[in-house]
Amino acid sequence: MRKILVLISGSGSNLQALIDACEDGRIPDASIVHVVSDRKEAYGLKRAEAKNIATTRHGILPYKKRHPDDSPAPTFEAARQAYDADLAGIVLAQNPDIVVCAGFMRIVTTSFLDPLQKAALPIINLHPSLHGDLIGANCIERAWDEFNAGKRKETGVMVHFVIKDVDMGEPILQKEVDMTGCKTLEELQDRIHRTEHGLIVDGTRLVLERGRAPQQQP
Ligand code: GRF
Repeated sequence: MRKILVLISGSGSNLQALIDACEDGRIPDASIVHVVSDRKEAYGLKRAEAKNIATTRHGILPYKKRHPDDSPAPTFEAARQAYDADLAGIVLAQNPDIVVCAGFMRIVTTSFLDPLQKAALPIINLHPSLHGDLIGANCIERAWDEFNAGKRKETGVMVHFVIKDVDMGEPILQKEVDMTGCKTLEELQDRIHRTEHGLIVDGTRLVLERGRAPQQQP
């Protein structure tokens, strides 16, 4: 049985897609063994606990208290590195075959990525934009604004390997999302989430089929 560990921050609709796909065989011979959230109120934790999947709440606040940053523009770099080193420990302790970031909103550092790389443990992320198009947060809203300004007719979704450069890792799967006829932001969000729920399942299955190879370049 291949073991999937999922990182989340929010409602977990993509986590639910993975749970359902493991149950109905779209991801064969695999199960979600652990869910980690950086936000203790994330609804996704309730979805996991409803299926008796073990969960961990791993918040950044204790690290910011332990490693304060009083500079004018605080980056909390020391807190982030310490947080990420412990996150790597939590993940590796579960000995998964793959780590899936499904709406995990933290930007990870090498303190997290390097230990996973050493263990040849693939880590993938779902992002609501095509590779190299919109990077970072609020991509759906930004695409919507550009659509209304007549600057684009489509956007997309990708599943990619995670590297330290945000949203820039090698794409595994991508799918365009046509925005023609979109009347509201909610309608666009719905189109994108429906695309995401299929792509995260296909991307996870594809990487599991590849096995534990060190595809990711640091
Ligand atoms: C998804 O749109 C994902 O692309 C983005 O955050 C959202 C998470 O949705 N990074 P959910 O928590 O899986 O419902």
